[in-house]
Amino acid sequence: MTEIMTKTAELIELEENFGAHNYHPLPVVLEKGEGVFVWDVEGKKYFDFLAAYSAVNQGHCHPRIIKALTTQAQKLTLCSRAFYNSILGEYEKYITEYFGYDKVLPMNTGVEGGETAIKLARRWAYDVKGVKEYDAKIVFAKGNFWGRTLAAISASSDPTSYKGFGPFMTGYELIDYNDLVELENAIKDPNTAAFMVEPIQGEAGVIVPTEGYLKGVRDLCTKYNVLFIADEVQTGLSRTGKMLACDHENVKPDILILGKALSGGVLPVSAVLASNEVMLTIKPGEHGSTYGGNPLACAVAMEALKVLKEEKLAENSDALGIIFREEMTKLKNETDIVTEVRGKGLFNAIVIKEKNGKTAWDVCLKFAENGLLAKPTHGDIIRFAPPLVITKKQLMECVTIIRNVILSFD
Ligand SMILES: Cc1ncc(COP(=O)(O)O)c(C=O)c1O
Repeated sequence: MTEIMTKTAELIELEENFGAHNYHPLPVVLEKGEGVFVWDVEGKKYFDFLAAYSAVNQGHCHPRIIKALTTQAQKLTLCSRAFYNSILGEYEKYITEYFGYDKVLPMNTGVEGGETAIKLARRWAYDVKGVKEYDAKIVFAKGNFWGRTLAAISASSDPTSYKGFGPFMTGYELIDYNDLVELENAIKDPNTAAFMVEPIQGEAGVIVPTEGYLKGVRDLCTKYNVLFIADEVQTGLSRTGKMLACDHENVKPDILILGKALSGGVLPVSAVLASNEVMLTIKPGEHGSTYGGNPLACAVAMEALKVLKEEKLAENSDALGIIFREEMTKLKNETDIVTEVRGKGLFNAIVIKEKNGKTAWDVCLKFAENGLLAKPTHGDIIRFAPPLVITKKQLMECVTIIRNVILSFD
């Protein structure tokens, strides 16, 4: 019997047949986005509560960012770094002044930002700190996630990331997150180049450290002449209610990694920011990328950064985040399915207790049915990270959907 397939089923089958099976998406096929909304191929409209893992902080297809993209796309998109281009210098000046650093090194994806930061830290350790060549150590926190390259998974404590992919990068040490005693023990080793850490661990399930942790990290790194690398690829750019999550404790990392929302979800753009002392250790020919610093990315990133400030998205994230957590806490008090609520700004998560065989995955399927898209992580955690252009009214609509769905499992 021939089955009449929906467009959704057809498109999912196409991906299944011809794409690598390295993701497990919810069965929703999207074709359009605008602000906080996305539409699937059947015409169903959803609130996007993932925002492409915080790449779409400015909202889908933000008109100003799309205009910057299309205007630049008609002029010059890529010329490689073999030549200068007419917009890179302007972008470099803009982003370094925006975040208060001497220099920027432009890359494309977040993971390349992490790789770049580690290369810089190692080189700085040899050239400036005086570590014997190839003895440099980089310290990471367990639960970190910074991408899928071999350097990144070598730093991972999650077997799903690293198992079966060795041998791994050497010169790494893993310590507990949110533990300053372990940090001090690890970095007092004079071979330590850097401690690389997410100010809030995103993929681990929105793990917020104790207040004072980042300040403690800053002080210890300064004390032992170790670079503090903040991976703000997911937490940065207004997501947590401040421009950077490090701003919550008024600390300035030595190396700042940005990505995702640096382009407002339009194309892969990442950046590594640092002082001259760190950045100028890398010389011509020693690092780069064909697309890094391309004119299209520069135009888009500048506009994406302007939108964050001019539309006060950090302020909106902060204010609505407080309301959202209040609402989720009320819900937690009404049902034993929600066992924890945590987050900062509009970067939040709830922990779901399995009930009658129903898991966080089933809850997310039901959210989708009811017009809200979210994705579970680590089996029982649901992250809520909508575009930061969401209004209070829209947020309250979403709270109602979340409430009704969760209570329906009770
Ligand atoms: C904190 C953090 N760093 C780095 C990355 C890697 O970014 P990309 O997927 O663009 O390589 C991610 C991706 O989720 C991330 O959350």
